[in-house]
Amino acid sequence: MESIWQKTARRAESDTDTLCSHADAVVIGGGMAGILTAWMLTSRGVHTVVLEANEVGSGQTGHTTAKVTSQHGLIYDRLCKSVGGELARQYAHANEEAIGAYERLIDQLGIACDWERRDAWVYSTRSGEALMAETDAAQQLGLPAFFADKSCLPFWIQGASVFKNQAQFHPLKFLYALAGQLNVYEHTPVLHVEGQNIDTLLGRIVADHIIFACHYPFVNCPGYYFMRMHQERSYALALENTQPLDGMYISADDDGLSFRTYNNQLILGGSGHRTGENCAGGQYDELRRRAREYWPDCRESACWSAQDCMPLDKIPYIGRFSGKYPNWYVATGFKKWGMTSSMVAARLISDAILQIDHPDRHVFSPQRHTWKASAGSFIKDGMASAKHLTRYYLKRPGMDVEQLLPGHGGIVRCNGRKLGAYRDMDGHVFLVSIKCPHLGCQLEWNPEEKSWDCPCHGSRYDYTGKLISNPAQEEDIVVKINS
Ligand SMILES: Cc1cc2nc3c(=O)[nH]c(=O)nc-3n(C[C@H](O)[C@H](O)[C@H](O)COP(=O)(O)OP(=O)(O)OC[C@H]3O[C@@H](n4cnc5c(N)ncnc54)[C@H](O)[C@@H]3O)c2cc1C
Ligand code: FES
Repeated sequence: MESIWQKTARRAESDTDTLCSHADAVVIGGGMAGILTAWMLTSRGVHTVVLEANEVGSGQTGHTTAKVTSQHGLIYDRLCKSVGGELARQYAHANEEAIGAYERLIDQLGIACDWERRDAWVYSTRSGEALMAETDAAQQLGLPAFFADKSCLPFWIQGASVFKNQAQFHPLKFLYALAGQLNVYEHTPVLHVEGQNIDTLLGRIVADHIIFACHYPFVNCPGYYFMRMHQERSYALALENTQPLDGMYISADDDGLSFRTYNNQLILGGSGHRTGENCAGGQYDELRRRAREYWPDCRESACWSAQDCMPLDKIPYIGRFSGKYPNWYVATGFKKWGMTSSMVAARLISDAILQIDHPDRHVFSPQRHTWKASAGSFIKDGMASAKHLTRYYLKRPGMDVEQLLPGHGGIVRCNGRKLGAYRDMDGHVFLVSIKCPHLGCQLEWNPEEKSWDCPCHGSRYDYTGKLISNPAQEEDIVVKINS
């Protein structure tokens, strides 16, 4: 489904030359992290090439809500306690600085991307205590925070932590303008990376530096990112005929909503869950119900969803990919705060390649040891992966393929095999393998989006079996049965 950004931005056609055989730096992935990093490198004289599997901005960046803020939910109080004041300060400083870096770049290049300064609110309808603690921690770290007990939201709040002078924009207008000035190869999936060699569908390119900005790294070893992140999806609606809101809002409560405006529309977000755990569906309906509750006369102009990588200690992995390849870099684990995190990644990685020591790099280092902050998530993620891995072998399908109703999908018995199936409204059945090509977990049917989603690390395939989202790289999982 097209997001409001995809509906309102068009990118100029670009001619792609034959792939060059060498570059100083190759960036894998043309989302916000990849394009910003490529821009920083190119503008500092590094010959950089971007390789994008689909089209620029077609990944999560085209489906974000694009709040540009150092307020990442409730994070600063927790960071101070889990990794200490100095690393928490680096996190705060790098993300707050990122807002100014966007603004300078937009001014410098004259990019028309609806950039607007707005306050960012994290609120709760249940308790104000955690928000007071967050405000205190943020203030101590030098962030422009204050506590509020009233808002212009259409419901009562118990409290909010407000960060002044943050921003929102149109992510694709920004991204397209920047990408137009770079060497970008679209429809060029990277198939394999070894040392300095990158193999693509268009041939091999050799690079002095390689940056994995492909959302979830598809190389499992070294790096072992599959042991360090899962993915979570959430949903958004663009609504007309609501009410003006003068800030950007996110809830601190588990079932809360997020709000921002775009021109005269309101973007309502929420209904999040771990990817692969939406077997019942109904996420959009829940958002629509909440929208009608607050604005009975509202009209929906777009609906879309996205997912992001959730790191164990809630801190992105930005820096060297692993100790084995010193010329590989990674930018991932943005936990739904990839706008400022992408700018942080662009600055840290370009500095590292130019051998400039960035003072805020330590907190984001993928080689950090934050056992205290990571242990709980590590155990939880490990147990979830083990459950979904064994499910493929232990759980029998609940029905035969013949029992599947039109418009429905599910795991079925078919010719003695356990397969995924979707029957379209004309009765045509699409069969897929439900063993995830990434590391073998069982794919689960997502009725909301008619897709096969992996609960382990978040790979996704559409109902025809075509790859939508990595880390899996296999282009399709189609099964053909000879009748
Ligand atoms: C619902 C939702 C709302 C959000 N709202 C906000 C917000 O308000 N503010 C905020 O800061 N963040 C927000 N985020 C997070 C933010 O959108 C993401 O963190 C960010 O867009 C990720 O950018 P990226 O460049 O890392 O990934 P992507 O945009 O996914 O880019 C990665 C690219 O790599 C390409 N790729 C993958 N594999 C290969 C390969 N093998 N070869 C070549 N290319 C490859 C993909 O095609 C893709 O285009 C939100 C996230 C969600 C889920
Ligand atoms: S995404 Fe890793 S096993 Fe499916």
